[in-house]
This record gives sequence, C-alpha cells and structure tokens, in this order.
Amino acid sequence: MYQAPRGTVDILPEEQPYWQYIISRAETICQRYGYERIETPIFEDASLFRRGVGEDTDIVEKEMYVFNDLGGNQLALRPEGTASVCRAYLQHGMQNLPQPVKLFYTAPVFRYERPQAGRYRQHHQFGYEVIGDGNPSVDAEVIDLAWQFYRELGFNKLSLKLNSIGCSQCRPQYHQALKEYYRDKTDLLCRDCKSRLERNPLRLLDCKKPGCQPIADNSPKSSEHLCPECAAHFNELKHYLELLGIPFSVDHRLVRGLDYYTRTVFEIQPPDVAGQSTIGGGGRYDGLIQELGGKDTPAIGFATGMERIILNLKKQQITPPATAKPEVFIADTGESDVRSQAVLLTAELRRSGIRVVNASAGRSLKAQLRQAGKLGVRLSIIIGETEMASGSVIIRDMRKAEQSTVSRVDLLTRLGDLLSAPD
Ligand code: HAM
Repeated sequence: MYQAPRGTVDILPEEQPYWQYIISRAETICQRYGYERIETPIFEDASLFRRGVGEDTDIVEKEMYVFNDLGGNQLALRPEGTASVCRAYLQHGMQNLPQPVKLFYTAPVFRYERPQAGRYRQHHQFGYEVIGDGNPSVDAEVIDLAWQFYRELGFNKLSLKLNSIGCSQCRPQYHQALKEYYRDKTDLLCRDCKSRLERNPLRLLDCKKPGCQPIADNSPKSSEHLCPECAAHFNELKHYLELLGIPFSVDHRLVRGLDYYTRTVFEIQPPDVAGQSTIGGGGRYDGLIQELGGKDTPAIGFATGMERIILNLKKQQITPPATAKPEVFIADTGESDVRSQAVLLTAELRRSGIRVVNASAGRSLKAQLRQAGKLGVRLSIIIGETEMASGSVIIRDMRKAEQSTVSRVDLLTRLGDLLSAPD
C-alpha cells in the first residue's frame, strides 16, 4: 500500500478544526493590522532562494527540493515564503503603491529535513511581511501581531527572544571579532562550524552541537558591535516593546538560519522546550529587495509553523471550536417514489442553508437512524408512503427520541424553530 512520502502528513477531517481555527484567527488578526493576503506559486526559480536566503544556509545548502522541469528550468519547491513575496513585490511594481506594503500568507513550505515531532518535509506557515518602512515602530508592530495572535489562540506562556545582528556597515566588523574569537578554538568545533567560520561566522552562534554550544555562549555579542544607527534602532525597538507590555529577553546567540536578516531578529518559543521547537520567528531584511534587483527598501516579517502551533495547542489542551456538523438527516422507507421525495427534500433543505445528509440507499429504517445517531444530527426527517400520501414528514428529535408529524408546507419554518432552539 502506498504511504504519504516520509516527512509529510495527511490532514484528516478530525484535524481540520485546528487548521480552521488557526487560519481564521490569522486572517482576522491580519485584517485588524491592515495586511492583505498574497499567494505565490509553490515553486520558484531555484536561484531566487540561493540569492535571497543564501547559499551557505542549511535551508538552501542541504534542504531545498530542487528539480529541472521538462523545459530545462531549474526550479525549487519554496523552502520559505519571504523571498517569493519580495519577488512578487518587485514583479508587480508594488514599490509604486503607498508604502509600506503589508502582506500575509498561509502556505505549504518544503524542506528536506530529518522528520521528527514538529519537523516535517512539508509544513505550513502563516507568515506576513511589511515592505517599505524601516522605522523600529514597525518592528514592534510585527512582533506585537505575532504576540497577539498566539495570545488569541490561547497561549499565555510563550517567551520572546530578541537580538540585533547589525547591518552591512557594522556586520563585517562583528564577523571579524567572531573570527578572532574562534581562531584558536577551531579544533573543538564541529565540521559544519569549521567550514562556515570563514564564509559565514554568524552561523556558528546557532550551532546545536553540544561541543560548540559553550564556545558560542562566550562569543562576542553582536549587540556590542552595532553601528550608532543600528544601536539606536535596537534601543527604540526595545522601548516600543516595553511600551506595549510585551516581555522579551535579548539572546545574543539568536541569529536565525536565513542570511537575509539585518538588525532585528526574533523568535517566539513555547515553555519547556529546547530551541529547535521554536514556534515562530522573523526579523528585518533591509537588503533583500535590493539583492533581488529592486531599490534599497527596508522590510521586516515573521512566520510561524502551523503544525507546531497545533502540537502546542494539544500539549496545552487548548481545543479549537468544532467545525459545523450536519444538522438534519433524511431517512426514507426505500420505495422508489419515496426515495425520489427524499432526494428532492434533501436538495431543497440544502438550498435553504440547512446542513443535510441523506441516508445511504438500501438500508433498513433502523440502520438509517443508527447512521443518523453516529453523525450526531439534531433532527431526522423520516419519509414513508403514508407521509407522502398526506403531504407530510415525520421529524424525530434525536436527543429526546420524540417524533411528530409536520406538513411539508410548514416544514421549513418548523425546522428553523427546532434548529435555532438551544441544545
Ligand atoms: P523559519 O524560522 O525558517 O523562518 O520558519 C518559520 C517557522 O516555520 C518556524 O519557526 C517553525 O515554526 C516553522 N518550521 C520551519 N521548518 C519547519 C519544519 N521542517 N517542520 C515544521 N515547521 C517548520 C522563515 O521561514 C522566514 N521566512 C520567516 C520570516 C518571514 N522572516 C521574515 N519574514
């Protein structure tokens, strides 16, 4: 028997309430903060991510699904959403709209990772981007949206980690400080860290290997190597977060796994878990639009993994509202003219907005009512030859196990009354 590919999952009907809950909360909050939805293709030119996310990142170097199509184009399944949104911003001339442009998405994302709880090869992100405004109050707003979103889902014990990794002016100096610090420690480093020290020393700070951790802990701090502009930006952001009552801690090892970040980086973590279970993360990427061929344009965004949200909702026993179930079941005695009436009545009720399921043909009335019980409907309608002849139907209240005969003319009004009565 075929199985879903390793690292992917089917989202079955019983999981759907979680997804609907998250997506509807995401849409509502984005509207409240003035964001509009964008959808980009699942695949893009592979070089968009090489250039945007960075050749030296795990995501691009080790995890990207790259393939050639029949036309010889090298494409990649999107390993994240930000580069695609920036590509769309440029392609559609959004720099000519009033700035900033605020966009959000809920979309599948693909990374060839080692699957484990909360880590998949296809996962889904809710993300949003603000392009065209470099003010630190925008950073605070982006963080505030994430914070509020989680709170509205029911989380109240999350922690916010914050850092500033500087800009193209001050980063080279900080790189230099890191290289100097690490120079006499290379023997102690893992293979990845050794190979990245020259090319991308920032990456060494978020290495998860036990041997590299204490060394990274004592490394020079980026926040102590910021240029005056970046330092002022970071201070203003902290001021706004305090103003908004959003608690945070500065983590000098927080650098994020994507190369486009500048200045602000942040992550949100649930309680009692190691760093890899980060529920969401984001940051400023003031150089990305230019890197992709546009004008110098500041931008910032955030994304959160929906599977990780669900994992944490379940851990904290937060249950989403149930999705709408069928309200009415239609049973019939099976004769062909009665069956036709049942089919017609099912269609009529659905057209008037009632959620209706009708019985599978060929079952006894008893079996049909058992089916109704399993579906959990409030009411069953039973049609037989006698009811047909008198232009009526039987309504059965499934909870009270009470039946009454109602004429077809009064049926809709009666159903309306019964279904709107408290349970
Ligand atoms: P990211 O931190 O790579 O950032 O991913 C965002 C979130 O997606 C993570 O915090 C995590 O919840 C979820 N996630 C990542 N990989 C997996 C996986 N393999 N399985 C399940 N969930 C996963 C970005 O992708 C950036 N584009 C965020 C951003 C937007 N920065 C600026 N704007």
